[in-house]
Amino acid sequence: MKIIGTGSYVPDLSIKNDDLSKIMDTSDEWISSRTGIKKRRISNGENTSDLASKAALQALKNAQIDAKDIDLIIVATTSPDYFVPSTACVVEEKIGAVNAISFDISAACSGFLYAINIAKNFIISNQCNNALIIGAEVLSKLVDWKDRSTCVLFGDGAGAVVVEDSKESGILDITIGSEGEKWKALKCKSCFVENPYVTNEKENEENLKIHMSGKEIFKFAVNTITNGIRNILKDTTYNIEDIKYIVPHQANLRIIEFAAKKLKIDPEKFYINLDQYGNTSGASIPIALDEMNRKGVLKKGDKIILVAFGGGLTWGCSLIEW
Ligand code: UT7
Repeated sequence: MKIIGTGSYVPDLSIKNDDLSKIMDTSDEWISSRTGIKKRRISNGENTSDLASKAALQALKNAQIDAKDIDLIIVATTSPDYFVPSTACVVEEKIGAVNAISFDISAACSGFLYAINIAKNFIISNQCNNALIIGAEVLSKLVDWKDRSTCVLFGDGAGAVVVEDSKESGILDITIGSEGEKWKALKCKSCFVENPYVTNEKENEENLKIHMSGKEIFKFAVNTITNGIRNILKDTTYNIEDIKYIVPHQANLRIIEFAAKKLKIDPEKFYINLDQYGNTSGASIPIALDEMNRKGVLKKGDKIILVAFGGGLTWGCSLIEW
């Protein structure tokens, strides 16, 4: 299976750190020095399926494939438009992919890699020949805008790839995992249990917004990037010098610098665009991939590693030959 097209879409509204310091007690100095983030895109009303559909149409165009010829759509998102239907079904209708099987998956910031793994298994088992894989988030509707320790980190956006069955190399290896015992480190409750027989559940509950233990995620992220890269190379003939780029989940520059130090590699090997978009969760890796593809930095045969970590806690890592 290989990637044959990429696309991305971010909302027009760009909010700089200085803009945030006008509405809450924060500063460009704090955000830049702790995270590397300079600005992020924020939805001015578009929902997740809107962003996902626009990224998808670009990926289809780049892959030169008609929406009607897509067999499978997987949307990785933690911020769906609805509980029912899936965002993927809404995207199917919006782009006219009338022959696709469509569903969402929930694996937070690792969702895109989970979706690649699922699509690979669909293709290997001959259930489909191609797939449209989208990471899309409107996190601005889920962050607590009164919690400066989380809301400054996230942004909205979507990225997409089209993959198809291929004898050529492509996805050389992929591995995913979860550590459910740490689920409380990053959570966002969906709704309260309220029915004619339960009335008081809300009393001791947090609000329906994102809550995060930043330090716990930081540690998990550094270990995940380091172990993920070491382990995926272990069973191959490649070593780190053969890898042209590492495309990490774009959460925090300091996480990436710590991981680079532990791996004893040049931080320049990591492709970074979090300064522009903040943390777009499941969308961050496909947005970066599309940016790299459009800039022409990826050449046929280049080996790249994608590595993600996030709520769940979940992780994923993939070795790709472009
Ligand atoms: O996709 C995965 C998503 N999650 C992550 O990537 C999170 C990973 N973790 C992190 O990136 C870091 O832990 C943060 C950037 C979230 C926080 O950095 P930190 O160095 O762990 O800061 P902290 O939480 O220890 O806070 C230090 C101080 C506190 O003040 P006091 O108690 O020392 O007086 C906070 O209240 O910074 C304060 N603070 C802020 N100050 C200005 C927290 N948020 C802000 C803010 N502006 N936005």
